Amino acid sequence: MKKLILSIIILLPLVALIFLYNFLFSFHKNNTENKKYDLNKFNERYYFTLISHSLGNPYWERVRKGAEDAANEIGVTLEYTGPTESNLTEELRLIEIAIAVKVDGIITHVFDEQQFMPVINKAIEKGIPVITIDTDAPKSKRISYVGTDNYDAGTQAGKILAQLLKGKGNVGIITGNFEPANLKQRVDGFKSVMERYPNINIVDIQSSNISLLGATEKAQFILANNNVDALYCTSSLDPIGAARVVVSRGLQGRVKIVGFDDLPDTLEYIKQEVVDATLAQQPYKMGNEAVKRMYDFKKGKSIPASIHTPVEPITKHNVQDYQKTVEE
Ligand code: BGC
Repeated sequence: MKKLILSIIILLPLVALIFLYNFLFSFHKNNTENKKYDLNKFNERYYFTLISHSLGNPYWERVRKGAEDAANEIGVTLEYTGPTESNLTEELRLIEIAIAVKVDGIITHVFDEQQFMPVINKAIEKGIPVITIDTDAPKSKRISYVGTDNYDAGTQAGKILAQLLKGKGNVGIITGNFEPANLKQRVDGFKSVMERYPNINIVDIQSSNISLLGATEKAQFILANNNVDALYCTSSLDPIGAARVVVSRGLQGRVKIVGFDDLPDTLEYIKQEVVDATLAQQPYKMGNEAVKRMYDFKKGKSIPASIHTPVEPITKHNVQDYQKTVEE
């Protein structure tokens, strides 16, 4: 009996120790397995980055919405980023960061083709596909471009303005920036039409630096220094700035305005017959398509080298109908 009690006293702590070890081991195992499982699950989702021209810009908010809707629909993670204000160096830095953290795909605005080419090609060489959006870099190795055919849109704007001027008058241009290819092409397409009209003269071109204040200042400047019959505005905030100045100087109806995009203020100025026409792009569709095509590419499908989203001219004749279709 004594022997039995003695062996219980010796064995009991030993058994307890074995239990404790097994318990701790299985807890650790479960824990690491869970962590491993979570990590795998996270890695299953693609992580795409969308780099915009300027954060908070209402046009880019629509690009963002389209992209986020597509990301939610297909189940990928989308990070929206960009400079707070139009800034080439910051855009380049954001692409470099996206490469460094090895995202699964980069969708980016291109401020300047020459300066963006090396970083786009670097991403491609590291196995990260790049889709350009809104403005293109066709000489780079980007896999696709999603956006407006900007030269063609510029010619459409030119034809509308030439008609409004009945082939005669002085034109001032307010462009968002001088560098981005999309805005250059909108100016080039416009000029190609104006060349056919010997009595239309382009008297000045100024950059708004993609800001409403900039557009307003440049409209003031052009109108103060030239005898201008029309303003051609190449990016979304420019026709709004131009309209404000035209109204403040009591020139509505006398100075024609043709612009880009369908921001609510622009449509309102069309209704008030201050802005004569605008070319509505499809920023929502751009964002939406870009994410879907990036996903297709990741899944091994072939995608077109460029996907052109259409533009629609809006004037006082169709603005009401247009607004209804946009609201639906
Ligand atoms: C252009 C964009 C630009 C935006 C600025 C749009 O018309 O397509 O490139 O960033 O205007 O508001």
